[in-house]
Amino acid sequence: MKDQMPPGGHTVDASVNARAWNHIAAQDEADPAVSTPGEVPRTIEWTCWPGRGPGAEWIGDLSRTRVAELGCGTGEHTAYAAENGARLAVGVDVADQRIAQARARFGHLPAIDFKVGDAAEILDEPRLDVCFSIYGALWYAEPTRLIPVIHNRLRPGGILAFSVNAPRDGELPGRRVDNLTLTGGARLPVIHYSYGADAWRRLLAECGFADTQVLPIEGPDGSPYRTLVIRTRRGAD
Ligand SMILES: C[S@@+](CC[C@H](N)C(=O)[O-])C[C@H]1O[C@@H](n2cnc3c(N)ncnc32)[C@H](O)[C@@H]1O
Repeated sequence: MKDQMPPGGHTVDASVNARAWNHIAAQDEADPAVSTPGEVPRTIEWTCWPGRGPGAEWIGDLSRTRVAELGCGTGEHTAYAAENGARLAVGVDVADQRIAQARARFGHLPAIDFKVGDAAEILDEPRLDVCFSIYGALWYAEPTRLIPVIHNRLRPGGILAFSVNAPRDGELPGRRVDNLTLTGGARLPVIHYSYGADAWRRLLAECGFADTQVLPIEGPDGSPYRTLVIRTRRGAD
């Protein structure tokens, strides 16, 4: 198990988060489902609670579109885009072991491409129609670095859709260090950026996004978590 700096990723956040997710990938390696061709999901789940929140209609018809998923993990939602008409579906992840698993599962699909690196550094496809992220780079990377990059890569009118957790009750918004717990009990730091609905609206508007919608989705009874499912558009130039 190597702890690699991601190509192009020079921020502390990217290297801390890559290390954590490479450890999770190594832990998952025993599960054949992450290293053999996988089943493409029938929809997109925007929250970690199946059936809560919108489905694939949140980003609309993907026919002939150019799509990027930022923080794609093992790649199933990038695969969804490729299977549902996208002419380009790029999955980006900062953890090289996650991308190795995504390639093993879905690399055979036409129109799909997977890339290793910090999304704020390596997203270089021009004129994208849709960028999306599910508890991915928009949650883990500094938004004032990443959102302008996404804005530059989307065509005017292109969609940015993503899910992130909101701060829990009593938590201050902003950059926070949390922990992922491995099955053996070891805890690995990860770095999140956690904001409420109004702060996301402001961050997006400041970077030239318009028509922002934020759906707050509560976790199951007793859960302290609330996920925000967000959709916005690059404004006209
Ligand atoms: C919670 S997982 C979600 C994975 C996937 N979207 C899913 O729903 O299963 C977060 C993923 O974001 C990736 N990630 C974190 N920071 C990133 C960054 N700056 N650029 C690209 N990927 C990043 C992590 O490596 C990890 O695979």
